Amino acid sequence: MTVSLTLDNVSAHYGSTKVLEDLSLHVGEGELVSLLGSSGCGKTTTLRLVAGFLQPTAGTIRLGERDLTRLPAHARNIGLVFQTYALFPHLSVRDNVAFGLKQRGVGRRERIRRADDMIARVGLEALADRHPANLSGGQRQRVALARALVIEPPLLMFDEPLSNLDAKLRVDMRVEIRRLQQANGTTAVYVTHDQEEAFSISDRVAIMNAGRIMQLDTPEVLYSKPANAFVADFVGFENMLKMRVVAEAGDAVRAEMEGGATIDLPKDRFAVPGRDFLLAARPEGLLVVEGAGAGIPARLGLRTYLGRAYQYQCDTPGGTVTANGPLSMPMEQGTPVSLVPQPDQCCLLPVEA
Ligand SMILES: Nc1ncnc2c1ncn2[C@@H]1O[C@H](COP(=O)(O)OP(=O)(O)OP(=O)(O)O)[C@@H](O)[C@H]1O
Ligand SMILES: [Mg+2]
Repeated sequence: MTVSLTLDNVSAHYGSTKVLEDLSLHVGEGELVSLLGSSGCGKTTTLRLVAGFLQPTAGTIRLGERDLTRLPAHARNIGLVFQTYALFPHLSVRDNVAFGLKQRGVGRRERIRRADDMIARVGLEALADRHPANLSGGQRQRVALARALVIEPPLLMFDEPLSNLDAKLRVDMRVEIRRLQQANGTTAVYVTHDQEEAFSISDRVAIMNAGRIMQLDTPEVLYSKPANAFVADFVGFENMLKMRVVAEAGDAVRAEMEGGATIDLPKDRFAVPGRDFLLAARPEGLLVVEGAGAGIPARLGLRTYLGRAYQYQCDTPGGTVTANGPLSMPMEQGTPVSLVPQPDQCCLLPVEA
């Protein structure tokens, strides 16, 4: 059974403090959506609302057609995998995995068959009789995953499930989580503050800030077409230059930046969103060209070596920007240059009111 999850205008408070405001989110059948954002932005709170550990102060939560909002936690049938595994120390791997089936009244023979099947799918068949104390962190995490999956919940929720593991195992496990989630067609919500983790395994990602979703889209769209300055900054558009359209210049729009310098942006490559806008650029999105030219006039400051490029702190009339130059030609501090925006590594954003 696969179902969708829908949150409609949900707000949540702890005491009188509002932590989620009018949050709406739809996770389609069999879809994996990640909630990504810095500490305290409300990710765990969102999961707690869906799990039924916290009541929203406004809004509704539905699983398929069923309204969960007033349903007690134990009646919701959601699989949860948290950062701390919370395995039963006195039970073997097999009994840990079979526990939820026992609670649901599945007979002994059937629950052992299903537990062993799931244990094999997470690659732990050799360890089914061990106790959690005698497993590595990664193995324990796989037990927790098997325990959540074995009850075949219509919805799985993960809260930073890999943050206790080392880097290599984190990558292996996230691939495994994605594989099992897809194989079972389970709808899933995955919480993390690791951008690479979220982008690598999700169908869509919700980027959150202070209790709100700033943008919800596929990793590809978030990465290349952020909708606002917050998301742009989050996905690595480090430079944010305020601009104003001052003239048409043939096939280009002439824009003036703070400090008075102007730059011509070809209309076929840049879609200017309004009179005032922000030019957001990754460091590799501002090509450093020696001498005066068609870009933003600048003088090179500190140079650092990145392996794939040199990076420069550049003084422009509008402030310091960070730009990358080619490895073949290191340039000296003080060199006058122009910084040419590269359309595929820049985006033009409306100025928010
Ligand atoms: N039980 C609580 N009582 C009061 N405030 C709380 C409680 N739990 C969380 N908060 C506050 O609510 C806000 C959101 O917390 P939440 O746990 O949802 O953040 P998060 O996005 O999961 O962060 P992290 O990445 O650190 O886990 C935070 O400001 C937090 O301090
Ligand atoms: Mg949290």
